[in-house]
Amino acid sequence: MTRINLGHLAILLLFVLAVISAAAQAQAPQTPALLLGTAWYPEQWPESRWDADLTLMQQAGIHMVRVGEFAWSRMEPSEGQYDLDWLDHALAAAAKHGIVTVIGTPSAAPPAWLTQKYPETLRTKEDGRKDQHGNRQQFNWANPKYRELARAMAEQLAKRFGHNPYVVGWQIDNEYAEVSFDAETKAQFQQWLKNRYGTLDNLNTRWTTSYWSETYFDWNQVPIQVGYGNPGLLLSWMRFVSDTWRSYQKNQLEVIRTNADPRQFITTNMMGWFDGYDHYTVAQDLDLAAWDDYVGQGHLDPVRNGATHDLTRGLKGKHFWVMETQPGGVNWAAINTWLDKGEVRAMAWHDIGHGADTVSYWQWRSALNGQEQYHGTLLGPDGTPDPLYPEIVQIGHEFEKASPVLAGTSVKSEVAILHSYDSRWAIQWQKHNKNYDPVNEILSYYGPLRAEAQSVDVVPPTASLSGYKLVVAPGLNVVSESIAQNLMQYVKGGGHLVLGQRSAMKDDDNGLWPQRQPGPLADMLGGRVEQYYALVDAVPVDGKWGKGESLLWAELLSANGSDIEVLMRYGKSNGWLDGQPAAITRKVGKGRITYIGAWLDPTTMAGAAKWMTEISGVKAALGPVPEGVEVNPRYGAKGAVYVLVNFAKDPQTVTLPGAMQDVLNGRTTKAVTLAHYGVAVVAAAK
Ligand code: GAL
Repeated sequence: MTRINLGHLAILLLFVLAVISAAAQAQAPQTPALLLGTAWYPEQWPESRWDADLTLMQQAGIHMVRVGEFAWSRMEPSEGQYDLDWLDHALAAAAKHGIVTVIGTPSAAPPAWLTQKYPETLRTKEDGRKDQHGNRQQFNWANPKYRELARAMAEQLAKRFGHNPYVVGWQIDNEYAEVSFDAETKAQFQQWLKNRYGTLDNLNTRWTTSYWSETYFDWNQVPIQVGYGNPGLLLSWMRFVSDTWRSYQKNQLEVIRTNADPRQFITTNMMGWFDGYDHYTVAQDLDLAAWDDYVGQGHLDPVRNGATHDLTRGLKGKHFWVMETQPGGVNWAAINTWLDKGEVRAMAWHDIGHGADTVSYWQWRSALNGQEQYHGTLLGPDGTPDPLYPEIVQIGHEFEKASPVLAGTSVKSEVAILHSYDSRWAIQWQKHNKNYDPVNEILSYYGPLRAEAQSVDVVPPTASLSGYKLVVAPGLNVVSESIAQNLMQYVKGGGHLVLGQRSAMKDDDNGLWPQRQPGPLADMLGGRVEQYYALVDAVPVDGKWGKGESLLWAELLSANGSDIEVLMRYGKSNGWLDGQPAAITRKVGKGRITYIGAWLDPTTMAGAAKWMTEISGVKAALGPVPEGVEVNPRYGAKGAVYVLVNFAKDPQTVTLPGAMQDVLNGRTTKAVTLAHYGVAVVAAAK
């Protein structure tokens, strides 16, 4: 009898394992660089139906499904009894149709047995009442027991699917939003304050608690305040909320990382301008940023939506996913209007142009019962395509066609807009003019700057800025010492910093800087805000950017020095402002600092944007295009690829700088004509 050599046996075993794993890898569907996807809920349908759904997806060029994010009761029907076989079948069935999967961890929808057995895991609302089962997001994000159970569930998923070749990534939870006001969370907040401030003396000083006898003698006296309260306390609570979402996410993220292949990314689906937590805090642990892009009532606003993409791209400084978007309409707006024919396609390409690599529709088909029966879908309740389906088919096939050209490309911009949650919160809590919306302020700058430069980044004020020719900070209200240093470094390095109204008023604790605005930057500016005025009636402005108006807000500026240029002045209004500076600029070495104290009307702002870009040497990425046509450049090894979308009502012709490849129709051309909502993808001719 031959003696079995253990060494040989081990080698043989390794070989067999390698073959098996190679076979498994070989089965992973090859997907295009641009992925079209949909949210699919196989748990809501009999398995016998799945193949019909997946066939229709495949026909539409859908290559990705996101599954599982609300399926906890199906995955763990009783405590510790996990059932993931159905999900395994669903992934395999999808793969047969060339479709890969993103698995959502189901912690946004805990099962009834869980909250019944552990009522402490239910969140407490602001009014002190406990949330209950029957909707979603009823959990307490700070509760240790909830975290333990959510982690155990995520661990089961990761162990089962962490090496599954069909799984490309993970979404943790779903749209973090609701927090809890229970006593235990309050105690955690007080501990958080202790860690940040060290001593009560320090906290009392920074929050100026001698005001209204707010002084704290014990950490456990500090309340939770939201909306109205001491500005230092309000900001601290939001920072605690953000850190707690980060640790909530980390709790699941770690267990996935430990058990999953590194090729599987981890993300969560964020919500654009939603300000319930600091997205920069939460995004730092993710591999990829993703957001849910819904229009709601009305039509796609390319400025607002484009800026939201750029905001999301700025979270990780790279391409991102549109994890959810509306297939036509939603069910939660005041009037759930439907997007026009062709608009869904225009929106998909607009997403790609701004740096999305995936566009995924929510949802494939509605559950027959449940809260969202009226939401837009791709299939009707009868399981056959909706009228929108052919448009989705077109997008799917275009994504496949354009994928080789857009693979590996990314967005690069010469202009950055600075955005911070601290500043937005600080303004929201003390608007001073009920119509003052910090996001609208950002957009009032973004729109015309985007039109001039054809590409803009939205980044936090802590970002490295030296690569930008122009950095604009509208309403950067909260400026810490280190942010001020970062901004001044940028100017000293030759950059042009533009501060918009309400900038640099507050310090890192949301206290007033003892210097007038722009606080620590005032010396560099050589001017300051003498007084701010909330406006009912617009105030005239006049100067380098034309004749126009200041809306909502006017800051009276002073300029102290002959090297300071007054760019705009206020006209006759309240006497105080009459003839006074509204915008000033100063050259500082090779750099420049500008301050705009007025909320400029759109036409004057367009003039300002033209001046800002010209003086900073910023060039339009493609060159002049007709109004209403949006240019979206993405750059790769083979040069620039431009996604052009026509939002104007009439057809528009774009003359290209030379002969280029029209990627979607395969021709070489020197000009493209785009119908209303028309799209073209043009690249250097082959
Ligand atoms: C999102 C959510 C989805 C779905 C969708 C409807 O906010 O993540 O689960 O409810 O809205 O528009």
